[in-house]
Amino acid sequence: MNTQVDRRLEVVILAAGKGTRMHSKLPKVLHELAGEPLLAHVIHTVQQINPNAMHVVYGHGADTVLTRFEGIDVNWVMQSKQLGTAHAVKTAMPHVNPDSIVLVVYGDIPLVNARELSTLVKILDAKKLALLTAEFENPTGYGRIVRNAQGTVVGCVEHKDANTEQLATKEVNTGFIAARATDLAHWLEQVDSHNVQKEYYLTDIIAIAVKEGGEVADIQASDTVSVLGVNTKTELALLERYYQRKRAAHFLEQGVTIVDPNRFDARGDIRFGTDCVVDVNVVLEGPLEIGHGVHIEAHNVLRKSRIGDNVQVKPQCVIEGAVIGSDTVVGPFARIRPGARIADHVHIGNFVEIKNSSLETGTKVNHLSYVGDSTVGRDVNIGAGVITCNYDGANKHRTEIDEEVFVGSNTQLVAPVKLGKGATIGAGSTITDDVPPDTLAVTRAPQKHVKGWRRPRKKTK
Ligand code: UD1
Ligand code: CA
Repeated sequence: MNTQVDRRLEVVILAAGKGTRMHSKLPKVLHELAGEPLLAHVIHTVQQINPNAMHVVYGHGADTVLTRFEGIDVNWVMQSKQLGTAHAVKTAMPHVNPDSIVLVVYGDIPLVNARELSTLVKILDAKKLALLTAEFENPTGYGRIVRNAQGTVVGCVEHKDANTEQLATKEVNTGFIAARATDLAHWLEQVDSHNVQKEYYLTDIIAIAVKEGGEVADIQASDTVSVLGVNTKTELALLERYYQRKRAAHFLEQGVTIVDPNRFDARGDIRFGTDCVVDVNVVLEGPLEIGHGVHIEAHNVLRKSRIGDNVQVKPQCVIEGAVIGSDTVVGPFARIRPGARIADHVHIGNFVEIKNSSLETGTKVNHLSYVGDSTVGRDVNIGAGVITCNYDGANKHRTEIDEEVFVGSNTQLVAPVKLGKGATIGAGSTITDDVPPDTLAVTRAPQKHVKGWRRPRKKTK
């Protein structure tokens, strides 16, 4: 698909609005769809048409917006007062090269597709203004397109300003327009705020252009969802589900078994090998690389990790920032935290937490343990309820467990501490000193027997 435009193109993204109807402190364009701010989706799509410049008009929650997008290569244009969409574009115009075509994109329409945007620029051709319209079953809130008796576009009226007849129109303005920079600047000079909202409407330039004899080119969006705006949490939830179903469909096409596409969530960059199965209510957050034959059972959260082949993730685990080798089993109810490096054929069982630790092949930590800041060799058996005491209240220390060590249940390993190859730790021990190889260490008090011991009895009155 060639989405590139062959003339000088500059894109203005409007992202300064508050988003009153979201009822939130967060600026609207920072609300997330599939784990990414709305504005990030828009910027990403605009990048695909390779414009010569991208200007983002920001204003409400300026600092929060800039912090969230630090390092992103766009020209930020501050609109201190949000006086309307026309005012927003006007604020950006001094930064736009007058020889370019300007494409205006709204920051609150996250699923717009690049193909539609480049088509919009192409249809401008000999015309003065290009518009992307859409036919909505429920057009409430959207600007309505006004056509004359011949069917040509002559204007756009905002929902709040529309009369009954205009409100009956299902053809809406999507907000995406393309025009030459000089024309746009000229029309913007004439926009006033004489309307119900007392705002400078960008949509007024349509009637202005037509009045000056300019012809309008319009196309209708092929996919209405791609031009839906996010103005409320309800709309955000709707678009999220739509996006997720589309992603699930994509993975299904690739051969991933997704037990229920309606209970599947993918955020960011995710790759699957062949023959993977994803059971219900799984949340995947990229970057995530999943090998072949991986089985992710119900109710799991996997983030920013690399999972080897034939790994089985049993229900209710949280895996984040980890690398997990092939043929390893994790869960149920395990928490694998950042910095975990787990090799092949390892077993991590229920209520086990692993943090910033490496575990070599064949090692087992099957029940109720915390392994933090540790280096664990191959074929180690860590019994139930073993805790690496890695924190002394001020600093973190490492635990080093060499291969073939057996750590008995209910043991505390007080770091820094080293267990030599083949060492055995008796159950219930608190290990504070290094244990040499092939040695049994046990610290529990010897068992005493008191023969004929009688338990105290309740006094009777
Ligand atoms: C706008 C259009 C409407 C269209 C709809 C499509 C106008 C007047 N109306 O209405 O015709 O059907 O989008 O989704 O253009 N913004 C600024 N600065 C401002 C005001 C808004 O940057 O001063 C930004 C907002 O952050 C938002 C975008 O412009 O990203 C659109 O503004 P919004 O208030 O959502 O407009 P709508 O009422 O949805
Ligand atoms: Ca909107």
